[in-house]
Amino acid sequence: MQKTLGAALLLLSCTFGFTQQAKQIIIDTRNLALVFSIQPNKKVTQSYLGNKLMSGDYSKISGGGEIYPAAGMEYQFEPAIRMLHADQNPSLELQYVSSSGSRQENNVATTNIVLEDPVYGTEVILHYTSYYNEDVIKAWTEIINREKKAVELTEYASSFLHFNADEYWLTQFHGDWAREMQMVEEKLTNGIKNLESKLGTRTNFYQTQAFFLSLNRPSTETEGEVLAGTLAWTGNFKYTFEIDQRNTLNLRSGINSFASEYFLQPREVFTTPEFIFTFSDHGKGQASRNLHRWARKYGVLNGSEGRMTLLNNWEATGMKFNETRLVELFDEAKNLGVDLFLLDDGWFGNKYPRNDDKAGLGDWIEDSTKLPSGIGYLVKEAEARGIKFGIWLEPEMVNPKSQLYEQHPDWILKLPNRPENYGRNQLVLDLCNPKVEDFLFNTVDRLLTENPGLAFIKWDCNRSMTNQYSPYLKERQTHLFVDYTRAWYKVLQRIRSKYPKLPIMLCSGGGGRTDYGALKYFTEFWPSDNTDALERVYIQWSYSYFFPANTISSHVTDMGKQSLKFRTDVAMMDKLGYDIRVQNLSPGELEFSKEAVKTYKRVSNVIWFGDLYRIESPYESDRAVVMYVNENKSRAILFNYHLNTRRQDIFNRVKLQGLDPAKKYRLEEINLFPGTRSIQPDNDKLLSGDYLMKIGLNLSPGRTNPLTSNIYELTEEGARF
Ligand code: DGJ
Repeated sequence: MQKTLGAALLLLSCTFGFTQQAKQIIIDTRNLALVFSIQPNKKVTQSYLGNKLMSGDYSKISGGGEIYPAAGMEYQFEPAIRMLHADQNPSLELQYVSSSGSRQENNVATTNIVLEDPVYGTEVILHYTSYYNEDVIKAWTEIINREKKAVELTEYASSFLHFNADEYWLTQFHGDWAREMQMVEEKLTNGIKNLESKLGTRTNFYQTQAFFLSLNRPSTETEGEVLAGTLAWTGNFKYTFEIDQRNTLNLRSGINSFASEYFLQPREVFTTPEFIFTFSDHGKGQASRNLHRWARKYGVLNGSEGRMTLLNNWEATGMKFNETRLVELFDEAKNLGVDLFLLDDGWFGNKYPRNDDKAGLGDWIEDSTKLPSGIGYLVKEAEARGIKFGIWLEPEMVNPKSQLYEQHPDWILKLPNRPENYGRNQLVLDLCNPKVEDFLFNTVDRLLTENPGLAFIKWDCNRSMTNQYSPYLKERQTHLFVDYTRAWYKVLQRIRSKYPKLPIMLCSGGGGRTDYGALKYFTEFWPSDNTDALERVYIQWSYSYFFPANTISSHVTDMGKQSLKFRTDVAMMDKLGYDIRVQNLSPGELEFSKEAVKTYKRVSNVIWFGDLYRIESPYESDRAVVMYVNENKSRAILFNYHLNTRRQDIFNRVKLQGLDPAKKYRLEEINLFPGTRSIQPDNDKLLSGDYLMKIGLNLSPGRTNPLTSNIYELTEEGARF
């Protein structure tokens, strides 16, 4: 039986990915197809994007928009590419040359389509990697200069897609510091809508590059056709949604070309970042599950491995600590039962000690007043208590009050003839300069070699670029944004080739960097400095559309005014951590928290690796309900949050999702506060998946007090975990 199955799988997998049929190129996954047609005039057009046909025969649809429209000839809308040739001719014509396919593994295939300009020889290679089981496609482009002199690129998209629907609904996520991922949905009208960032660093400060595009009508969690897209790029990005005169929507995605004309030398290749997308005809929920499955396997470092629970000291102590205080905190971490203590900002600087955010950045040596025995001592003390030790860094930045600034004034981005411009009293280092690249790598490498027990890094980046000028780039200033991001990736690649597994948290003044270009090198990210648990319900909900739970760091803090139970239940929805003074907890709160950590460790595999079902949206009612179901549907964890509920709110029964209708599940309320009992009428009952999904549960029995919450565990009858 096993053998037959294996053979069938092999046969199936050999037929997906890239197929060339007469004049068509078909890229497909388990449920999706992207079909390109080669036209008689050698243009390649996108004839179809959507659910796969059972027959696999797309020959009757052969038209569509160009797959990579170039500016300068007949195309008059926003182009995928625009360039000036060496002779300043501003036109490009891209004709089909060849296509090929390759298989990276059973589940992953890449299609390459080569286009060329017949006069100037400019080569454009479009790549599409398809992930069969996850229904995800990744698209990126290479542009090659075949002329004898440099050419100038003024537009260089990663990908270009066309849609034909009656209406287009765009869901985007914008915000600010401590207000990340505010969701807005709007109907697109004729003309252009751009989503973009021009910030250089901390590029998600106001806007993220993750979006949904619903076709015909707004999609819900379970219904509607929707594309979920995001760009794997930590620098400036731009999406252009243009509805043309025929109501076709053209979607250009890629690096933002703002102030970024790029000069390509002869034979030089410009490689764009990857645009990652999935398509679902069952609404946003399925789209998210596709992305989560893809991300854990292919998009995030150690994505299918466990994560450490931790105690962080940022909100609890700020920069006011010393060695003795920290060792006390290690005892608190041990008492709580978490795996790691994370020392935040404020541990470095001697000539200019880091006692506030005005000094010290760049001088990555322990402050000998605060930490006379050094980091090695802290690692040892933590290890002696059975916990690990991690540390905060912000290697790309410098305070003017630092030795680094005094020694290397030319290592800093700043305009000639203009005053310096500060953000959080700091400046951005010129990462385009290879010496700065080495400095970043060496900073991390030295810390890790000198302290081999160091088990975790939080990599911060607290400002965006202003005063955008690289002394190193000289006359090539328009390369700054692109080269900075590429140099950052080079540093991370060097770190990862020496330290492939070390967990590193991606942080940027809250959620200023949250993208899959970075997450290849990071294990998790910091979503927001807003840790008020009520706010976090919304923020984490929004991130969950695009990122799996094991990447979304969520700490119990004192910021919100809610009960410890509510704050803990919110943090447990994603990757649990703490940032509180444990010694200030009452005996009951301490007992609850210690149990909560144990409970989280027992159930976290379901949260991290299960399928997420968002059942009740906080954006639509005074309640949020989400659940995770493990792969074989034997176990589920259900989170229920009453938000700013009012007496007049009516909460109906909640129909669960994702369970096996044929299985029976025991329902148990977990994470109860000591001395309290569950008032859930179905607590401890055995209920079929069918019942739970058709009749559902009353998750709001009794009075629905504001800011209260419950966590339930559902376990298949007879199963033991
Ligand atoms: C911004 C981060 O988001 C915070 O968590 C904290 O690490 C501070 N920086 C430290 O300066």
